Amino acid sequence: MSVVYLNGDYLPVGDATVSVNDRGFLFGDGVYEVTPSYGGRLFRWEQHLARLKTGLAAIGIDFDAAALEQVKEELLARNGLDGVPAAYVYVQVTRGTAPRTHWFPDPPVAPTVYAFANRFMRPAMAEWRRGVSAVTVPDQRWARADIKAIALLANVLAAQAAVEAGAGNAIFVRDGIALEGSHNNLFAVFGGVLATAPKSNYILHGITRDLLIELAGEMGIPVEERAIPLPELTRADEVFFSGTTTEVRPVVEIDGRKVGDGRVGPVAQRLYERFLEAVEA
Ligand code: PDD
Repeated sequence: MSVVYLNGDYLPVGDATVSVNDRGFLFGDGVYEVTPSYGGRLFRWEQHLARLKTGLAAIGIDFDAAALEQVKEELLARNGLDGVPAAYVYVQVTRGTAPRTHWFPDPPVAPTVYAFANRFMRPAMAEWRRGVSAVTVPDQRWARADIKAIALLANVLAAQAAVEAGAGNAIFVRDGIALEGSHNNLFAVFGGVLATAPKSNYILHGITRDLLIELAGEMGIPVEERAIPLPELTRADEVFFSGTTTEVRPVVEIDGRKVGDGRVGPVAQRLYERFLEAVEA
């Protein structure tokens, strides 16, 4: 059984319990972070930590997230994941346990800190080359999608809509603009130029997104951070998702229509190869 971390203790997942008065349970009042580990090494931990700190500050939870680095290493080791090619550590911090009031507990209570580690499976190259299909859904999230909040109901409903449509993922569309996937950022290629939604309160500022923009720069691929209207997205030469466990995942069909020629394109392919070199370096 896997070993998880809860409020200072390492324990079997079956023994890890939180109160029904935990504000994460009652309100979704907390933030989370998912950090990849390649060959036992956390990848871009500083960036994930910075985003977690920003999220904690944005919602007013006082917690020193820096201490989590050791927890993450320990979880990987205790779960035998320190040697595996690809794993991730999930951590969430909620405002803690207190009788239910909409306002913050006063005086503040200790946050609830929960973390676990797991492996993730990269698709075999043959499967990756087949790409995935996607459906578009109206973006019904709140206007702070940049905060990595544990309240993910709109994301859950979007992902389920994709499953029910027999698609691999959902793309959020707000006011006619294609923003990101249910749990990933979105890129499109137009005439060799890479485009992705600019950082705003309407998307999560993905660490993988940043990495791909950096790698594209090194590879001489021009990048535009700009709004992509849905009609334009459906005419893109290539489309792909990015994310911590998603890595780079090409989209070959949107709402039943082929993207480009319906095959994985050269920009996604080259970026993925460069991405794999970067994470395995
Ligand atoms: N999801 N956009 C959304 C809505 C996300 O939930 C995620 C990450 C991303 C990509 O961010 P990053 O590259 O930093 O992983 C974009 C995580 C992995 C999840 O919910 O499991």
